[in-house]
Amino acid sequence: MRIRFSKIATLAIFAALASGCEQVAPDSPGGSLVKRGEYLAKIGVCAACHTPPKTEGANCPATESPIDLERRTNPDWLAYLDETRPMAGGVPFLIRFDANTSGVVHSRNITPDPDTGIGNWTDAQIKDALRNGRRPDGTAIIRFPPHTFYEKLAEDDLTALVAYLRSLKPVQHAVLPSKLPFPMPAGNAGPAAPTAPTGRSNERADYLMASLVGCKECHSHNAPDGTLRPFIGGDPSDPVLGVFRLGPDLPLRQNEQGLATFPYPGYALLWGPNLTEFGQNGPEKDVPASELVKAIRTGVSPENDKDGRPGLLAHVMMWQFYKDMSDDDAYSIANYLKDLNYVPHKTPPIRYFGADRNGMFKYLFNAAPSASDQALFGLNSPVNSVACGNP
Ligand code: HEC
Ligand code: HEC
Repeated sequence: MRIRFSKIATLAIFAALASGCEQVAPDSPGGSLVKRGEYLAKIGVCAACHTPPKTEGANCPATESPIDLERRTNPDWLAYLDETRPMAGGVPFLIRFDANTSGVVHSRNITPDPDTGIGNWTDAQIKDALRNGRRPDGTAIIRFPPHTFYEKLAEDDLTALVAYLRSLKPVQHAVLPSKLPFPMPAGNAGPAAPTAPTGRSNERADYLMASLVGCKECHSHNAPDGTLRPFIGGDPSDPVLGVFRLGPDLPLRQNEQGLATFPYPGYALLWGPNLTEFGQNGPEKDVPASELVKAIRTGVSPENDKDGRPGLLAHVMMWQFYKDMSDDDAYSIANYLKDLNYVPHKTPPIRYFGADRNGMFKYLFNAAPSASDQALFGLNSPVNSVACGNP
């Protein structure tokens, strides 16, 4: 990412140094609208889905297993994004409803390119797309978290995000259309709150986690009756919320958060841990908020691993995108978690499947992959064609 050394930015850096290196959100006085939008896009992880993966080094056409194709061993998630085409879209998400019903959703080009991006959209149209999932031509955007959160974004944050998207380099990149077996309706969120809560407060944390940042979705699961059990971690009885497939070509379902590809050279299942353990009366209640902030920003767990070393969190935790989260935002969230009441719930340890994709599939969906699954998740799946640079 390029840093522009404007006078204001330089002053902000000096101010930060003078105040003991606090990480200040760009929405503080002096921060520009574009900078604020860039900050929101960063902690909102837009690039994780909208920036295409680097294709160099891929063995094409795909003759090896997808694992060999990927060879993702660098722990830096950002290293896999094609920084020459930020936000140019085309990342496929495979959504499996059942053995015979699936869809493929490609993230879109959200650069200002007039032909293949959103360059011809008005500000109001971009905001409508984010809040209501509606395109200027009236078609609905297929939304899964965090897109489903954006209806709660406040007007000033939407304005900043639009300013940032407009500041991007236009990239000509036509992405494949998305396909679902049934139509998706657009939303109808009503008027947005004029301004987002600011400062360091539970209100700010609540707003961030409802409108932009995915902590709650990833660290929760649904009870059998469908009610959300927030922040208590994933559960094997719910294969949709709070469980992450690590590996190259992974099925996602409707309403599922996360990405189709996570940097892990092999197949594994990982459950989001119970965050209420750090809250009131929890077994980890003595962990200070600063340790949670460290986990959010650097991916170092507040808990040591079984050998007493600092536990390093998988990239799914998104800390590479949270590393510039402001002190106010990170502490708002950490303090909010410290205020939660402990709810006992053990999340399973990570489960490794190595190269046994069918084994993982079976464990997760309780069935061997069907013909439809093979077509979608097999060697010729859309994920692999993107890894080979086409489209
Ligand atoms: C989990 C992945 C994911 C994340 C994170 C994400 N998006 Fe998207 N986005 C998508 C997908 C997939 C589509 C296309 C859905 C479809 O085809 O109907 C999309 C569509 C859009 C569109 C509509 C564009 C069009 O041409 O239809 C806009 C605008 C957009 N995203 C902006 C953003 C912004 C801004 C952020 C961050 C604040 C963001 N997205 C974060 C996956 C994501
Ligand atoms: C895309 C899903 C995802 C998102 C978004 C996410 N997490 Fe996580 N988080 C995980 C997973 C999975 C782990 C376990 C990683 C591991 O064990 O390597 C984790 C681990 C953690 C841990 C360490 C817990 C422990 O017991 O060691 C903390 C703390 C945490 N997350 C807090 C947060 C907060 C706060 C946010 C929002 C700012 C957040 N997470 C967003 C998936 C996510």
